[in-house]
Amino acid sequence: MAQILETINATIKFGGLTAVNSVSITQEEGEILSLIGPNGAGKTTLFNLLTGVYRPTEGNIKFYGEEITGLKPHERVAKGISRTFQNIRLFHEMTVLENLLIANPDCHREGIWEAVLGGGKLRRKRQQGVEECEDILRAIGLLDKQEELATNLPYGKQRLLEIGRALATNPKLVLLDEPGAGMNSVEKEELSRLIHYITDDMKKNVLLIEHDMKFVMGISDRIVVLDHGEKIAEGKPEEIQSNPLVIEAYLGKGIPEDEDD
Ligand SMILES: Nc1ncnc2c1ncn2[C@@H]1O[C@H](COP(=O)(O)OP(=O)(O)OP(=O)(O)O)[C@@H](O)[C@H]1O
Ligand SMILES: [Mg+2]
Repeated sequence: MAQILETINATIKFGGLTAVNSVSITQEEGEILSLIGPNGAGKTTLFNLLTGVYRPTEGNIKFYGEEITGLKPHERVAKGISRTFQNIRLFHEMTVLENLLIANPDCHREGIWEAVLGGGKLRRKRQQGVEECEDILRAIGLLDKQEELATNLPYGKQRLLEIGRALATNPKLVLLDEPGAGMNSVEKEELSRLIHYITDDMKKNVLLIEHDMKFVMGISDRIVVLDHGEKIAEGKPEEIQSNPLVIEAYLGKGIPEDEDD
């Protein structure tokens, strides 16, 4: 199996706080990897390092063996890394379909000359982009809501649209930051099916942050646990559940069953 993602001693400091401290992780092609840990453990910050929001103070990040540590966020999107946000970031006053089209490279990234001279070729490319977006809408169960304004969707559906938007950039790896937050149990089942569809049918990779332990234990092939910016454990779900360091990290807070924040 090919290694798709690797961080080597990734570290970021904000003033006196080391939010991520020498964290090394790897992800293999096809595996669903999850990041867990108590609030403030550094999970989202690690996503921000992977997507180029921050540059690490120390350490390196590789994607398919290629050094990407210095690349800007849009350059990483072009390499095939996309993400969703812990707090939904949609274009609320655009329709469901428009939210995907704006993210799709075939629909908006042609150069000015191609736009002027492209003619039929450009139209065909656009048409292909629209069809790709429709496939994604089908996968996230929102095809019949494509003309609806994003803001009018119920919260759980907005979360699914946020995943759709990430898929519309045609990524190889999708980072999902607490996609199940605020979802009811039916929506979480839908989410679980969608994640399997993304990995099994779309052949993309998923790196997941999620607080709902039942969900994480059920869906992950492997889990990495962060606490106070450090990796304290990694392994298969059953190994993580019984790991004393993990139980200790959650002590006082309790391992969350179904926490939304
Ligand atoms: N830009 C920043 N400036 C200063 N401190 C930051 C910044 N970003 C994150 N932090 C700090 O880094 C630590 C880790 O935050 P992070 O958001 O990564 O945690 P998390 O594991 O995602 O937590 P949660 O489960 O609550 O989402 C926190 O103490 C946070 O306050
Ligand atoms: Mg977070």
